Amino acid sequence: MVRVVVLISGSGSNLRAFLDGCAAGTIPAEVVAVGADVDASGLDHARHYGIPTFVEQFARGDDRDEWGKRLADTVASFDPDLVILSGFMRLVPPVFVHRFAPMLLNTHPAYLPEFPGAHAVRDAFEAGVPETGASVIVVDDGVDTGPILAQRRVLIREDDTEQTLHDRIKVVERELLADVVRDIANREHAIEEN
Ligand code: GRF
Repeated sequence: MVRVVVLISGSGSNLRAFLDGCAAGTIPAEVVAVGADVDASGLDHARHYGIPTFVEQFARGDDRDEWGKRLADTVASFDPDLVILSGFMRLVPPVFVHRFAPMLLNTHPAYLPEFPGAHAVRDAFEAGVPETGASVIVVDDGVDTGPILAQRRVLIREDDTEQTLHDRIKVVERELLADVVRDIANREHAIEEN
């Protein structure tokens, strides 16, 4: 079973889907903790499952590397095999990335390298393109520049709003993330067997 720590910043609908998948046994992983950089409402999903939560605030004027090391130490204290950023809206500094990558994933609501950054859905929507997508990547020191592990196209409909488009993209993000974690679990299982 892959031990996972998930980091969020918002409502955590993707987190909830992941937790439900783990509970249903369709995702061979155990979420051992859920953290956030703010008191995110999505932490309630972890509490629903009795999973430990933590908040590592990034206070104004905080040193990013100092915050990143604190966050890395807290995440590492749960002994994860894998760390997933799921709607975590703060750039993790190199000190954090180098602690966990390549077992450090991020889901992004665009077909990278198209539309990187914090406003991917809005940018695609405003670009007037016919389609965008969702991606799961390994986090590196750049902004959404890491190796792409999975991605899929999402069509933009005439009657879409940014919200309806994002909601459809999130469904694909959840499916891609579940597939990637299943692959990791199968690979780990294969390694243990050999
Ligand atoms: C997701 O689309 C994620 O890719 C992006 O922010 C959204 C988080 O949504 N970074 P939620 O908090 O899981 O509902």
